[in-house]
Amino acid sequence: MVIGVPKEIKNNENRVALTPAGVTELHKYGHMVYVQVNAGEGSGFEDAEYIAAGAIMLPTIEDVYGIAEMIMKVKEPIEAEYDLIKQDQLLFTYFHFASSEELTMAMLAKGAVCLAYETVERPDRSLPLLIPMSEVAGRMAVQEGAKYLEKPLKGRGILLGGVPGVKPANVLILGGGIVGTQAAKMAAGLGAHVTIMDVSLARLRYLSDIMPPNVQTMMSNEYNIREMIKVCDLIIGAVLIPGAKAPHLITREMLKLMRNGTVLVDVAVDQGGCIETCRPTTHEDPTFIIDGVVHYCVANMPGAVPYTSTLALTNATLPYALQLANKGWQKACRDNIDLKMGLNVVDGKIVYKGVADAFNLPLTDVSTMLVEEEVSQ
Ligand SMILES: NC(=O)c1ccc[n+]([C@@H]2O[C@H](COP(=O)([O-])OP(=O)(O)OC[C@H]3O[C@@H](n4cnc5c(N)ncnc54)[C@H](O)[C@@H]3O)[C@@H](O)[C@H]2O)c1
Repeated sequence: MVIGVPKEIKNNENRVALTPAGVTELHKYGHMVYVQVNAGEGSGFEDAEYIAAGAIMLPTIEDVYGIAEMIMKVKEPIEAEYDLIKQDQLLFTYFHFASSEELTMAMLAKGAVCLAYETVERPDRSLPLLIPMSEVAGRMAVQEGAKYLEKPLKGRGILLGGVPGVKPANVLILGGGIVGTQAAKMAAGLGAHVTIMDVSLARLRYLSDIMPPNVQTMMSNEYNIREMIKVCDLIIGAVLIPGAKAPHLITREMLKLMRNGTVLVDVAVDQGGCIETCRPTTHEDPTFIIDGVVHYCVANMPGAVPYTSTLALTNATLPYALQLANKGWQKACRDNIDLKMGLNVVDGKIVYKGVADAFNLPLTDVSTMLVEEEVSQ
C-alpha cells in the first residue's frame, strides 16, 4: 500500500503520525511510505532518519495527499486539507467527529474512508488509541501541579515530597482510571501523600492492592470531597463517564473551603471538566486564579511533550496501521473488530452511531458495506 504522512498543520500540533521506527516496519512488509519534509521536526525526528528507515520525502502536503492510498495523521484534517482528500482515500487519525458538524459534512462530501483513532475499541470496551494520551496527561498532571505549587507561580509554596523533618504535600486525585492511576504513581514517587477517589469499589480495591503505602483510596462522594479539599494542596480531576459530560464534583462554592494557593489540575476539561470553575486553557496561558486557587485546565496536555506523545501514540497505532496496510481496510476491519469500531464515515455515509446521533443524520450499518465489498471481488 502507498502510505502518506503529512506534516500536521493544526495550530500548535507538534506530533507526527509515524516515527522512523514505524516507517521501518511498514517498509519491511513492502509498503511505500511517503513523508512530508519536516513532518517529524516538532517531535525531534529528522528527515534523514526517515530516509534511512526507507521513507521517500515529499516537499509539499499536496504531494503527500496526492500519492497516498492511506493517510496517517494525528489531528483531524483542517479546512485547508479538505480539498486535498480524494474519494476512497483511507484516513487514519483522530477525528472527534461528534464535536464538528463542519468536519463531518466535509468528509461525507469527500467520500473518504475515515477510521478514527478515538473510537477504535477492544471487546472489553477499552479504547487503545486514547489510553496512551491519558497516560501522558496523567503523568504530566503531577509535573504541572508541582510546578504551579511554587510560590512565584502563585501556588502554596510547598514541595510535593517535603524534606526530612517537613511533611509532604497532600494530593487528591478524583477518578482512578488511566489518568488517575498514572498521576497517583507519579505523585507517590515524588513522596507526596496521595488520595485517590473513585465511584467504583472494584477499581479502588485494585488500586489499593497495587499502590505504594503513601497512596490511600476513598469512595468518591460529596462528603468525602468536601473534607479532603480542605487539606489538599494539589487536586487532580480525572473522572470520565463515557459519552457524557464530566460531573462537577467541585463546585464554585467549594473553592472557599480550600487554602490559598491550592492548585487544581482538571485533566477532564476536554469533557467539560469535573471542577465547575474550570474552562479550557492553552499551553501559552495555562492557568488562571479564582478565589486564590490556581486552575490549570489545558485541554491538550500531551501537546507540550510531543516527543513522548508521538512515541506513545505510534506504539499503539502502528500495529493497526500494519493490518490496514497489509490487508486493505475492508479485510482488516472484517478480521479485527477493534478496527471495525473505528470506522466513522465511509463512502459518503455515517457508520458510527455517536456521529449519526450527534447531527441527527442517518446511520448505515458498516457490516453491510464490508460484505458488499467481499461479494463484488
Ligand atoms: N486534558 C488532556 O489533555 C487530556 C488528555 C487525556 C485524557 N483526558 C481526559 O481525562 C479524563 C480521564 O480519562 P481516563 O482515560 O483516565 O478515563 P478512565 O475511563 O480510564 O477513568 C475515569 C475514571 O473516573 C471514574 N469516575 C466516574 N465518575 C466518578 C466520580 N463521580 N468520582 C470519582 N471517579 C469517577 C471512573 O470510575 C473511572 O475509573 C477524560 O475526560 C479524558 O478525556 C484529558
